[in-house]
Amino acid sequence: MCCLVRRGRNRYLSGMLDKLKANNRAWAARMVANDPGFFKRLEGQQAPEYLWIGCADSRVPANEIVDLDPGELFVHRNVANLAPPQDANYLSVLQFAVDVIKVKHIMVVGHYGCGGVRAAVDGQRRGLVDHWLHPIREVYHANQQELEAMLDERARFDRLCELNVMRQVKNVASDVFVEDAWARGQSLSVHGWVYSLSTGLVRDLGVTVNGPR
Ligand code: CO
Repeated sequence: MCCLVRRGRNRYLSGMLDKLKANNRAWAARMVANDPGFFKRLEGQQAPEYLWIGCADSRVPANEIVDLDPGELFVHRNVANLAPPQDANYLSVLQFAVDVIKVKHIMVVGHYGCGGVRAAVDGQRRGLVDHWLHPIREVYHANQQELEAMLDERARFDRLCELNVMRQVKNVASDVFVEDAWARGQSLSVHGWVYSLSTGLVRDLGVTVNGPR
């Protein structure tokens, strides 16, 4: 009995994946129908001009939001769109994007209603992720007066999402890979954006850095 239930459940679970595989076949066929050389060209080289550093949230899919095709956006995503100067994963992506691909723009893209940002300051213990989110608590404390003067809780969290993006822009712009790129005359800008889940629109926070300060 128990075995039958398990077999039924497994069939259900692999059915979910069958749907994704069918989606994939249909998508690839559609891409080729629109542009027969599409995948052949991409196979030869990737030369995106943008690096997107965004949140892992499933509602903030990088390529879709800015309507770019495969090959046009280099993407790094993690919980709460952080750019921590000691994180080897982020640093590897950043160095590859700047030194090898030579992207022209890096955008740190936060989003309002970010669960990671909220979790950083809600006082609950979750384990490892509390360490990951520590930089957001530092952002909170650095801006405590401004934030606590905001009586509307949602507005306060939204502001913290913006402040977090600004802080990460600062991290990226002061990274040695980025500074070295500027020193050798490479064109590179770092931008801070926030995405609204409710409108689908991105807002430029106006904190772009184009060169060494
Ligand atoms: Co988020």
